[in-house]
Amino acid sequence: MQQASMVLLFLLLLAISMANAQQRNFNLSRGSTLSPMGNSSLFSQSSTFAFGFFSFGDGFAIGIWYEGTPQKTVVWTANRNDPPVSRNATIGMTNDGRLILQEVGGQEKPIANTTEPAIFVSILDSGNLVLYNSNSTIIWQSFDYPTDTLLPGLLLRAGDQLFSSISETNHSMGSFRIKMQIDGNIVMYPVGSLDAPDFAYWESDTNFVGKNATLTLDGNGRLYMLNSSGAEVKNINNGAVPSGGKIYRATIDADGIFRVYSHNLIENGSQSIVWSAPEDRCTPKGICGINGYCDLISQQPVCACPPGFVFINQDQRNLGCNRNFIVESCAFKNDRIEYTIQELQNTIWLESTYAILSSMTIEECNLACLEDCNCEVAQFQGQECKKQKLPLTFGRRTQQEAGNPTTLVKVGMDSGRNGTMDPKEARKKVLRMDILVSGVACLSFALIVLAFATFLIFRYRRWAYKKILYKANDQGLIDDVSLRAFTYNELNVATNGFVEKLGRGSFGTVFKGTLSEQRIIAVKRLEKVVAEGELEFRNEMRSIGRTHHRNLVRLLGYCHDGSNRLLVYEYMSNGTLCDYLFKSQLNPNWEERINIVLHIARGIVYLHEECETQIIHCDINPNNILMDEYGHAKIADFGLAKLLMPDHSRTLTGIRGTRGYVAPEWHKNLPITAKVDVYSFGIVLLVIICCRRSIDVNVPESEVVLIDWVYDCFTANDVCKLVPKEEVADKQSLERMVKIGLWCIEEEPVVRPSMKKVLQMLEGNVDVPIPPCTRSSL
Ligand SMILES: *[C@@H]1O[C@H](CO)[C@@H](O)[C@H](O)[C@H]1NC(C)=O
Ligand SMILES: *[C@@H]1O[C@H](CO)[C@@H](O)[C@H](O)[C@H]1NC(C)=O
Ligand SMILES: *[C@@H]1O[C@H](CO)[C@@H](O)[C@H](O)[C@H]1NC(C)=O
Ligand SMILES: *[C@@H]1O[C@H](CO)[C@@H](O)[C@H](O)[C@H]1NC(C)=O
Ligand SMILES: *[C@@H]1O[C@H](CO)[C@@H](O)[C@H](O)[C@H]1NC(C)=O
Ligand SMILES: *[C@@H]1O[C@H](CO)[C@@H](O)[C@H](O)[C@H]1NC(C)=O
Ligand SMILES: *[C@@H]1O[C@H](CO)[C@@H](O)[C@H](O)[C@H]1NC(C)=O
Ligand SMILES: *[C@@H]1O[C@H](CO)[C@@H](O)[C@H](O)[C@H]1NC(C)=O
Ligand SMILES: *[C@@H]1O[C@H](CO)[C@@H](O)[C@H](O)[C@H]1NC(C)=O
Ligand SMILES: *[C@@H]1O[C@H](CO)[C@@H](O)[C@H](O)[C@H]1NC(C)=O
Repeated sequence: MQQASMVLLFLLLLAISMANAQQRNFNLSRGSTLSPMGNSSLFSQSSTFAFGFFSFGDGFAIGIWYEGTPQKTVVWTANRNDPPVSRNATIGMTNDGRLILQEVGGQEKPIANTTEPAIFVSILDSGNLVLYNSNSTIIWQSFDYPTDTLLPGLLLRAGDQLFSSISETNHSMGSFRIKMQIDGNIVMYPVGSLDAPDFAYWESDTNFVGKNATLTLDGNGRLYMLNSSGAEVKNINNGAVPSGGKIYRATIDADGIFRVYSHNLIENGSQSIVWSAPEDRCTPKGICGINGYCDLISQQPVCACPPGFVFINQDQRNLGCNRNFIVESCAFKNDRIEYTIQELQNTIWLESTYAILSSMTIEECNLACLEDCNCEVAQFQGQECKKQKLPLTFGRRTQQEAGNPTTLVKVGMDSGRNGTMDPKEARKKVLRMDILVSGVACLSFALIVLAFATFLIFRYRRWAYKKILYKANDQGLIDDVSLRAFTYNELNVATNGFVEKLGRGSFGTVFKGTLSEQRIIAVKRLEKVVAEGELEFRNEMRSIGRTHHRNLVRLLGYCHDGSNRLLVYEYMSNGTLCDYLFKSQLNPNWEERINIVLHIARGIVYLHEECETQIIHCDINPNNILMDEYGHAKIADFGLAKLLMPDHSRTLTGIRGTRGYVAPEWHKNLPITAKVDVYSFGIVLLVIICCRRSIDVNVPESEVVLIDWVYDCFTANDVCKLVPKEEVADKQSLERMVKIGLWCIEEEPVVRPSMKKVLQMLEGNVDVPIPPCTRSSL
């Protein structure tokens, strides 16, 4: 009896499912369509997945979702950045075998780009949408174009990446990406950044698996890697316990976290997180936009603004913060009383320092930033004061710990009301400090002044201010005030009679030497010095000596003795960039190349825009760029052009830059501006990324002149030829660098971007437009 009823029930269920099955489309053949209205989606055999229209905004988008769960989670989206389509749009398989979206008015848009006509489309039980040709061979599959989700069976191959969505309901490309790198590492970055360590916020640390590894997920929610020969080599998430009735996916979510989810089909489709990375939800870089920082409050990321800033949009706090006061341009730097400094504790940002002052107290750092019109923020840590400009990026609050940096933010006097300190208080504090510091030096004077403070207060304040600044410089930048003056004899001894030659540049020959205190130095013997007079020479040395930046080689001292002019620099153990690129066994990898380019760009931006008086280098080339022990690039020989050519007359034949790197202005008798450095930088950039000389006679004729070759490849849309495939991270990154390089070497100086703009493009903060590529043939 019971058995009979069971059989009946079974038959009934079968009948129902058959009836359902008949309603449902499993194949889309030529001439058939799907539409948003009615239930015309395409289903996988077991109906786990469906493909078709889903609601998006006030219309529909096209994608694949879990049919069997109540949330109908979307796992793939076609043309994800397109706006919603209307209810009258259809998805169709055309009679000539294309899968297209047909919109009102007859416009067609491909959903799958195939090279040969398809016969039919179906969606597999893995969630893979596939197009077959007449031989039933798959000619296109959505698994080759993943969006934000990895499904079991989908292989994320070397160079592939997933991009997060804007939100759970808007599947347009969001702010984060996870990349299976060629080098075997899985790394998460913000969208738009270069693949450089400065921007990464999570990495799997799996270089050991070797190149060309693949990331995938299995049916039990295990995330693992295959090496280039297809063997499983690394499990990323410790695996999940096999359990029936569950399906898994791995998604990089809108908040930048990569999560493995399980969906329970047996119960009611309830979804749970099996694994996620990174743990800390404030880690994704840029999650709070520019100038904003992320604070973890009961495990939830919360965006906040530094003092003196307000949210760009109160309702979308992840867009970042703007200043709540107007900043005067540096051109009108008369009235620093408009500003005060407010402190922000335990926050860290992407390092973007343009000057470092050492041996400072926090009060001195305060004043140094107030005094410097370019300084918008300073980071104070240990005894170092790092001056920075806006925007602040990648901000987040850290654990409270001794020795954490303090962020000093320059704010408008009127804007400070809501900050940590009342501006009046702040001003008083500065004043108190002024009195304190200078008072130690000249106590009696300070006492007298204090007695008259009520009516002398303003003048005194200014006076004390200057005094302290001078003192601060004196302690902080000892070398800059007291550049050491050497005698010729001292340097003769240090270099052992000028025997060990390190190199030769356009300004003179460089020798290695050792000072008595075992400090290794590089001594440059200048030739063709124009500036006579010891005073002028020393002033020039001072100005070079004051130019401090981590990407500039530091001047330690000089010698002006009889007719000898020598400069003493810190020694760079890794030689010139030229040696580094062309003489070492291994070419630097892509990341290293990009970092070198960034370092050089930062150094030039400092020379052009951030030091007291603009310095045009005039001879940027790989022999003038030195590599320190950590592989950081530093620019040498800055400031010398002026010394050798004080009136910028250009008539001197001696300095015309270095062949292959000079801007066309030099040949055309046009005024020399900072744009000559932009040009030379552009060539250096191309030399670095292609890792070959700007003129190389050992290659096919069409490739001899690097820039001609680059132009040719770029216009032929074939930049991949420039760099061997295994050396480059991905085509976009290469293309971006090439575009930036081409902008820099534009024929017309005015068309070339400023170095600051170039740096922004390199850092990924702004888009790189297509370069106009106008130039006369050389
Ligand atoms: C889909 O169509 C192809 C070819 O017409 C056929 O071989 C296949 O069995 C169909 N699949 C289903 C589920 O109907
Ligand atoms: C859509 O499906 C529902 C339930 O499966 C059914 O009631 C309805 O009639 C279907 N509509 C169309 C247009 O097929
Ligand atoms: C989805 O997000 C993008 C990017 O923010 C936005 O331009 C678009 O309008 C959004 N679409 C909808 C329907 O909300
Ligand atoms: C969609 O089609 C309906 C009926 O065919 C029509 O009334 C409506 O105007 C169309 N909508 C658009 C946006 O064309
Ligand atoms: C198909 O190719 C066109 C032109 O190359 C491109 O614009 C479009 O984005 C591609 N579509 C898909 C779905 O790949
Ligand atoms: C189908 O397969 C046959 C034999 O393998 C081959 O000759 C033919 O070119 C194939 N057709 C397509 C469209 O790939
Ligand atoms: C990685 O893949 C590329 C292209 O498929 C190939 O040229 C290269 O030799 C591979 N490298 C390794 C180490 O397998
Ligand atoms: C991949 O891993 C397997 C097993 O560990 C190993 O035998 C093989 O040599 C590896 N292949 C490569 C290319 O490293
Ligand atoms: C779904 O199942 C889960 C776990 O069994 C349960 O906690 C939840 O209440 C259920 N939800 C619904 C809507 O039935
Ligand atoms: C001051 O800050 C508090 C929270 O710190 C905020 O609620 C309030 O709106 C702010 N007031 C002004 C005037 O910005």
